Amino acid sequence: MRIAGRLAADVLDMIGEHVKAGITTDELDAICHKYITETQAAIPAPLNYRGFPKSICTSLNHVVCHGIPGDRTLKSGDALNIDITVIKDGFHGDTSRMFFVGKPNIQAERLANIAYESMWLGIEQLAPGKRLGDIGEAIQKNVEKNRFSVVREYCGHGIGRVFHEDPQVLHYGKAGTGLELQAGMTLTVEPMINAGKRHVRLLPDGWTVVTKDHKLSAQWEHTVLITPEGFEVLTLGSEQR
Ligand code: MF3
Ligand code: CO
Ligand code: CO
Repeated sequence: MRIAGRLAADVLDMIGEHVKAGITTDELDAICHKYITETQAAIPAPLNYRGFPKSICTSLNHVVCHGIPGDRTLKSGDALNIDITVIKDGFHGDTSRMFFVGKPNIQAERLANIAYESMWLGIEQLAPGKRLGDIGEAIQKNVEKNRFSVVREYCGHGIGRVFHEDPQVLHYGKAGTGLELQAGMTLTVEPMINAGKRHVRLLPDGWTVVTKDHKLSAQWEHTVLITPEGFEVLTLGSEQR
């Protein structure tokens, strides 16, 4: 899991410099696909996962998650989440970050910053004996204090040899409730935060999730191991290791 996590983070480190005006999300997908399969000798988990057609997810502006790379050209002011999941030696590493094209839009930057801070407040709850509700409450409180909203329909998940497994890691809830955490568990924390209302809509492509009010959404994701002392983040970027 440490190796898979590091590889997923390496893909995000690699792709950052390519996220600029004029490139399409299909081109970003192709660069990541080549890097994962050739340089890393790993497998891009999204490709053909339940029929998903590409190797990465690219969720732009009001897209909440599971955006499908396509011919859309990035332009200055766009906010893009890139979500990478790789399989190495049978284990999954899953991580996403927000990227800005050109000069960041102030609103989008603030939303991304609060989403980032909220993800970390959730991760910092992780330790043996803590409960899943502790994570959800920490995230939800921070988001709502800032007058943003938490998406309810999608959540973090257990991860290992299987991409998505129990437990569901909700990004809202009540401290002291839910499953008790144990050392050795690996799961993701990946809050989706909306600038407007929390409600989402699934597009007819069966994958792309957008905000109902078409306001901006932001997300960050890490894969984390519960350790006897607390937690170890398996998908840190090179500058955070
Ligand atoms: N990486 C996403 C997650 O964080 C799942 C993407 S599923 C896909 O759980 F099929 F859209 F790739
Ligand atoms: Co992911
Ligand atoms: Co995930």
